[in-house]
Amino acid sequence: MSVTLHINASHDKAEKYRILLPQIEALISGENDKIANLANISAALQTTFQFLWVGFYLAKKDMLVLGPFQGGIACMRLQKGKGVCGTAWQQEATLIVNDVNQFDGHIFCSSSALSEIVVPIFNTKKEVVMVLDIDSSSYNTFDAIDQQYLEELAQLITRQDWV
Ligand code: SME
Repeated sequence: MSVTLHINASHDKAEKYRILLPQIEALISGENDKIANLANISAALQTTFQFLWVGFYLAKKDMLVLGPFQGGIACMRLQKGKGVCGTAWQQEATLIVNDVNQFDGHIFCSSSALSEIVVPIFNTKKEVVMVLDIDSSSYNTFDAIDQQYLEELAQLITRQDWV
């Protein structure tokens, strides 16, 4: 089976997300394995936007443990309440960091990461079960458009029975 995303460089960011999300939904609709689906979602986001790093951290007790990702090797465990990921988990809210050097307690997995967005993902009981973490090698990459569509993606993941 071949799987191809249909998005081209002439689309602006919002258009890319609008085209990508239904394709992600279709891509994961026939599979109920969490790792397989999160791996392909990471790849779909990374290949569409060429982000430096895209991945999931899975909530286990009071830690976030590295899950499927695209990019360089990364920190394997992050504490709840620490760094951008742990803070987004604790606050149960999306965090956009325009300059990681200005975020008190930011955890550096790569010195190339300059800005970041972290989106918590809930189960149907409204518990955070994972976070989506995206790093960029430029400052100020993420804005309300990314937040809107990545939160839509988070809601799409919440609706899956493998969450
Ligand atoms: N920067 C994150 C750590 C994860 S890496 O970016 C992949 C943080 O501060 O939580």
